[in-house]
Amino acid sequence: MILRGKVAIITGGAMGIGLGICKVFLKLGATVIILDCSDKIKNALEELIKISKNIIGYKVDITNKDLVDKIVTAIYNRYGKIDILINNAGVFKLTKFLEISDELRDFHFDINIKGTWNVTKAVYPYMIKHKYGKIINLSSITGVKVAGIGEVAYATTKAALIGFTKSLAIESAKYNITVNAILPGYTITPLFKKFALNNNINITKSVIKEIILGIPIKRLGTTEEIGYLAAFLASDLANYITGAEFVIDGATSIPKIKNIDV
Ligand SMILES: NC(=O)c1ccc[n+]([C@@H]2O[C@H](COP(=O)([O-])OP(=O)(O)OC[C@H]3O[C@@H](n4cnc5c(N)ncnc54)[C@H](O)[C@@H]3O)[C@@H](O)[C@H]2O)c1
Repeated sequence: MILRGKVAIITGGAMGIGLGICKVFLKLGATVIILDCSDKIKNALEELIKISKNIIGYKVDITNKDLVDKIVTAIYNRYGKIDILINNAGVFKLTKFLEISDELRDFHFDINIKGTWNVTKAVYPYMIKHKYGKIINLSSITGVKVAGIGEVAYATTKAALIGFTKSLAIESAKYNITVNAILPGYTITPLFKKFALNNNINITKSVIKEIILGIPIKRLGTTEEIGYLAAFLASDLANYITGAEFVIDGATSIPKIKNIDV
């Protein structure tokens, strides 16, 4: 129970990786507060309450700075502290550079960068006040280790989160606040399914097999595996880790050389 007694805000916890992180955090003893703009938050809460009663959720768009501020203040007033912030909410729409409208660019920048910024800025004063905090940002291998066609807007935001993580880590060290980034590879989530649908990719077993061919571990990662990495980084076992990036992709992003398989 490495997170026993800890209070954690998890953005985008209604589905996908965020939901996986919520499950693990509840199993490991944390009190979890989800911030998510989707109606699916209701289903998530119904599922999560079976693991632990220490779960609540707020329906909020993290680009709405004023509302984020109000909700974070309400959370602090209710629990008396905020130990952990997982900036997980994010969006991704595959589009080639010249076809990316300013609106689509801003959709990525506003949620992935500014949304993360808003929630962090709202939580940070309370962490400083308690001289304790663990901030974990969901970046990606995309934009940092690898890149593909149609990923310019998304990749820009995910690389930006690395700069955010490292700079904030330096500034936060004297307050006993650590800031780290997780860089997942392909994980089957609603985001991944939407990406496939928008690109007329039928996620049949054969397509997944195709993706798996590029993954040395020969399977996709699970949302809970990302949850356990987040839990470690959010726990006091990781007090000396800050400003670091953690790839979790089954070695997908390691450049391969042709060699003899012995
Ligand atoms: N799935 C992957 O393969 C993968 C790989 C690398 C990185 N990531 C990153 O992991 C994170 C989670 O991805 P996922 O695949 O679980 O995505 P997802 O679409 O399945 O879930 C994202 C969640 O964020 C919420 N959200 C989106 N915009 C929001 C907003 N403005 N305000 C509040 N909530 C909002 C959604 O409602 C949803 O619940 C993202 O930051 C993504 O970039 C995912």
